[in-house]
Parts: sequence; C-alpha cells; structure tokens
Amino acid sequence: MAPKRLLLLFLRLIILTVPIITVKGQDDFTLAEATIEGLQRAFDENKLTSLQLVDFYLHRIENLNPLLRCILEINPDARVQAEGADRERRSNRHRRRSFMHGIPVLLKDSIDTNDEMNTTAGSYALLGSVAGRDAGVVEKLRKAGAVILGKASLTEWYSFRAFPIIPNGWCARGGQAQNPYVAGGDTCGSSSGSAISVAANMVSVSLGSETHGSIICPADYNSVVGFKPTVGLTSRAGVIPVLPKQDTIGPMARTVADAVHLLDAIVGFDPRDSEATSEAARFIPDGGYRQFLNEYGIMGKRLGVIRRPFFDTMNRSIVSAFENHLDLLRARGATIIDDLEIPNIDIISDPTASGELMLMQAEFKSSLNQYLKELRISSVRSLADIIEFNQMNPELEKLEEYGQHMFIESEKTNGIGEKERKAAEYLEKLSLDGFEKVMKEQKLDALVAPGISLAMTVLAIGGYPAISVPAGYQSNGMPFGICFGGLKGSEPKLIEMAYAFEQATRLRKPPFSQSFDLTSHFHFETA
Ligand SMILES: *[C@@H]1O[C@H](CO)[C@@H](O)[C@H](O)[C@H]1NC(C)=O
Ligand SMILES: *[C@@H]1O[C@H](CO)[C@@H](O)[C@H](O)[C@H]1NC(C)=O
Repeated sequence: MAPKRLLLLFLRLIILTVPIITVKGQDDFTLAEATIEGLQRAFDENKLTSLQLVDFYLHRIENLNPLLRCILEINPDARVQAEGADRERRSNRHRRRSFMHGIPVLLKDSIDTNDEMNTTAGSYALLGSVAGRDAGVVEKLRKAGAVILGKASLTEWYSFRAFPIIPNGWCARGGQAQNPYVAGGDTCGSSSGSAISVAANMVSVSLGSETHGSIICPADYNSVVGFKPTVGLTSRAGVIPVLPKQDTIGPMARTVADAVHLLDAIVGFDPRDSEATSEAARFIPDGGYRQFLNEYGIMGKRLGVIRRPFFDTMNRSIVSAFENHLDLLRARGATIIDDLEIPNIDIISDPTASGELMLMQAEFKSSLNQYLKELRISSVRSLADIIEFNQMNPELEKLEEYGQHMFIESEKTNGIGEKERKAAEYLEKLSLDGFEKVMKEQKLDALVAPGISLAMTVLAIGGYPAISVPAGYQSNGMPFGICFGGLKGSEPKLIEMAYAFEQATRLRKPPFSQSFDLTSHFHFETA
C-alpha cells in the first residue's frame, strides 16, 4: 500500500478515536492503564508493591463504584493477600510464581470463592449461601499468586430470569451498572461489571463467563479486550451454570497481553469438570499462550468475512471502520476471503428456530439444581426455591417490573429427554455443516467480524473461541470492537491476530480522564 494511503488510513483511524471528553489537567494516577508486564516490572524494581496497587484500586472503587455500580463486593482479605504476595516476592526462594503474582483480579459474581464473599449471580436469593470451596479457575488463580479483589456485577442470572426484559447490567443487588463511555449507554451483558471495572481502571483484569455472547458483547460495548476460550479450556466447576455445552470462563482486560497472562493462569484440567477440561487440555501449547503475542501475527493468515445477514442492520460508522480495518489487515499480510456464506445462518441466528433456547431451558434447570445441591449452606436448593424466593420478595427483585418468565418456562422442563437430545444433535450438525465446513473448505485461520455478530451466533452454538479487541468509537462516544473467532483450540492464531491488530491500531482510550469529575458527565442519581 502506498505510504500516502497508509497515512490516510491511520488518520481515519485516529479520527475515529478522538476522545469523547477532553479535559485539561494532569493525570494523577500513573497506575491507571498500567499493564501486567508494566506492573511486574515495577514490582521487580521495588517501585510498587501489590498492597499499594490494591489500595489504589480500592480508592478508585470507593470513588467510582457509586456511579458505575459495577462491583458488588470487595474481598475483605484482598489486602492480606497482597501483603502475602509482596512478602513472597521479597523472599529469595520464589520471586514470582507467574505473571499473575500480586495482580488484583475481579470475578464475575457467579464464580465461587471459599472466603468471606458471597456468590449470587446478582440476586438476593443466593445472598448468605456458602459454596465452601473455590471454583476451579479460582484455585488456579490463587496458585498463580493473584489477589482476588472482589466480585463484579452482572446482568442478574445472566438475564436468564427474564430475557430480554431485564436491562443489560442490572441486578437486584447492584442496581443498574453504567457504561463508562456514554451516560445511559448500553453496557451489554452479562459480564457487564467485569468489563466496566476493567475499562474504568478499578482493577487490573477480571474474569467473565459466556454462554451466548456474555464476554464478547460487554467487551465490545465498554472498549476492553474480551477473551472467550474454547469450551472446556477453563474449568466451569464452581461457577453458576446456564448451558454446560456452551458455558466458558474467560479474561477481560485492557490489552490482549493482559488477557493472555490471565488465560495462562486459569487454563487446564480440573477433576471437577473432567470431561470437558480433559478434552480441551490437548489444545494447550507447551509454554502456554504468551508465546503467541507476536506483533507480526497477521502475516500470512487467511481470514473469512461473513456479511449476510449482519451488515444490513449494523451502524454505518461501525461498518465503515471495519472496512478500514480490513485494509489494515491486508496491508499487514492477511488474505481476506470476503462475503462468505454460512449455510443456515438464519436458523443459527435464531435461538428459537435452532433449538438452542429450548435446550438452554432444560439444561439450566438441571445444571443449576445440581450446582445448588452442592453448596455447603443455602436456603435455596432448586430453581423452584428461587422462583418462590422472587415471589416472596417482589420489591427486592423488581418482580412486577421484570417478571421471571424464563425461570418459569425452565422449571416446566423435565431433564434431558429425546427432544433435548435431538436439539443438541441438530445444533452440532448446524456447526459441522456451517461454520466448520466453511473454515475447512476455505482453509481459513479465523473469521473476522465487526461487533458482536459472530459471537452471538455461529461461535456461541459450537463452543468456539473468540477474542474481541477495541476497534473504535461512534460519533456519540459509544465503543465498538472487532472480533476474531475460530475453530476449537485455535487460541494461538486468535491471539496472534488480536495482538498484532491491537499493536497496529492502539485504538482503546480510557473512558474519562483520571482527573475528570465524573458527576458532571453522568447525571444519574447517586443515592
Ligand atoms: C455476604 O453477605 C452477607 C449477608 O448475607 C453480608 O453480611 C456480608 O458482608 C457479605 N460479604 C461481603 C464480603 O460483602
Ligand atoms: C448508531 O449510532 C448512532 C450515533 O452514533 C446511535 O445513536 C445509534 O444508537 C446507533 N445504532 C445502533 C444500532 O447501534
């Protein structure tokens, strides 16, 4: 590409990212926007301790959370854990357990911890329940030396209580979480708190979970990196389930490298989720995923683009930014195979037609009941108990306003019978004859798409991995991302492309200047 065109391209990219709020004044917090590698360097050079870092975030949370409402609980042990990480680093024997040593992490409030914190999916029904053990991913995080900072808000029950009536980012315990870029803007869900807290520099990184777009979509809408691993690459044990065939736990971060360091700490076999994790463990490369942070990672890749039916309904500014991004990918050595079609895409995009919704309703009841049965202490032991709790506490749970129609439908189901087995087989066939066939026939390394179209459709039903990277802002300040998705186990390629794209564009901006007075931008009540 001629240098002049490249320059124009970059100018257009830059114009897309003009900060929404321009503020004069100094940036007081150099810790904001710090990366994990930067923090580890500061630890090594004795310029920073984990305890100082935790205190920095606690201060930010105290100031910002009343406005953004993205965090439900602070871990009372966080400072003690940070001191422990500092002490261990000072001792000669183990200087650093991993890249996550001493790094604060927030967990979506559906991930069990064996400590003072509650795990509630945002609902009062589970407040006071005790799991009695860490989720599989939390065990791994603690071994890696991470500090568990707290629990992030989410769309209550992953919005499965009453989709689509429950607003994205709302839960009874936390109220309405706010998009940090646009007052009143959609936060998407369900891992909304995990995305917002990272975007607003209230933590280093966080964990979200995804069944159908729940990591990729809030990452997209809050301008962070969302990483949805292949189902089974990360253990789901001790995480409130929706549909085990599709549930996966993954990182949300400000940079691809941060997401990858977190991923490296949580992947692997877990005897409590043995079938899925042993099958996916064969995908984990020797030396982990860090080696794929390759700034030339776009070179030689074959990327497919599916336009129909998504582009027609997509915002024009997002589509035109995407065309520029395709140019950039080509300029960096990718081959773009444009305008591919996925057979049966209309069925795949419609959870009722594909049977996905029906399967979810049956599996949600049986897997949730199993989860509730295993809690050490709880006053609710079944979906029926939760429905009853909501009926007894209509004001707490805003029952009149939002209802619980999906819970009631789910409660009517009766395990996995013939109908459900057929639906599961049909979904598998849609993936094999659709996405997998196109990937193989066209010899693609990945699909690339603007926004969330891929994540909510072909990638969701097959348990395939995806990474969303910030890709610009609309004229009203609303962020959007670009999504790379591939076959099971294709994380190395996705990381290469996502990292190379990010390094070439660096489009993410923090949502507001650190010295900016948020209250003058957001006009919602803080009561
Ligand atoms: C967990 O919930 C109980 C209420 O049942 C509350 O007293 C406690 O403070 C909560 N834990 C944390 C860490 O906020
Ligand atoms: C498209 O962008 C405009 C302005 O940036 C915004 O008001 C509108 O809500 C967007 N529409 C969609 C579907 O995202």
